[in-house]
Amino acid sequence: MNETLQTIFSLRTIHGDFSEQEISESDLNCILEAAQRTANASARQSYSIIVLEDRARMRELFGYQGSRALVFCVDFTRLMDTARYLGHRFDNDDIISFITGTIDTVLATQTAVIAAKALGIDSLITNGLQRNDFEKVYHLLGLPEASCFPLITVVLGYARQEPPYQKGRVSQEFVVHRGQYRHLTEEQLARSVAEYDDHQKHIGLIDDWEKQGFAHYLDWFYTKWSGQPAVERVAEGKVREFQERLMKSGFWWPME
Ligand SMILES: Cc1cc2nc3c(=O)[nH]c(=O)nc-3n(C[C@H](O)[C@H](O)[C@H](O)COP(=O)(O)O)c2cc1C
Repeated sequence: MNETLQTIFSLRTIHGDFSEQEISESDLNCILEAAQRTANASARQSYSIIVLEDRARMRELFGYQGSRALVFCVDFTRLMDTARYLGHRFDNDDIISFITGTIDTVLATQTAVIAAKALGIDSLITNGLQRNDFEKVYHLLGLPEASCFPLITVVLGYARQEPPYQKGRVSQEFVVHRGQYRHLTEEQLARSVAEYDDHQKHIGLIDDWEKQGFAHYLDWFYTKWSGQPAVERVAEGKVREFQERLMKSGFWWPME
């Protein structure tokens, strides 16, 4: 395997247990430059990256801390402001741009993670910001009310200790469809359930599901972790908060 593939195949998340060791400014800059190299729709680079170094602020915002954190926001503000500056009309705030902007943003995020790993720097991707109150997040980060949405955070640093194992993935046959989509057969479903149950593979979030009285890992996942599906499709709680936030940002329009 060449070095690039070795880096990719050695990726693993550090779930917040970063040491006090700081990453250098030159490494940080390299990670940011690598992130910006990523492909992006219509050459718009429709994101902004907020670099945090205050560990207490990180904890307050998303519950984790490390040497630095990069908050990746879908953001059309820069393009809007430039249009205004040049005297053009431009408005990219709709669901299509939100999705395309999300793709730009997420690709840049993963590139940052890979670049960090290539430099020996560990990372955690977290959506902890979105578990927080959006009003508070917008206030603390000074985010523009419109055209901007905080999508994902990468915490960077050095692991206090190496995790005991690298987490596994489900087999390619359950994920990759050649030529056309096919639902898994009953036999494949049984084997995929067994893969999650296989303690050697470490695919799931927890290992002690049997001790908690579950026959399969996925029984724990569906009943304890995911919660029950809403019977009525009425936006409540976090779903409502997301929809309201996306409306304020201009990305989500009322249907009538
Ligand atoms: C969108 C997203 C959100 C995540 N949020 C968290 C988080 O809040 N806390 C955490 O410990 N890990 C978080 N993770 C990391 C995943 O738990 C981790 O990637 C997954 O368990 C696979 O482990 P690995 O990355 O070590 O292979 C997140 C990952 C993604 C892509």
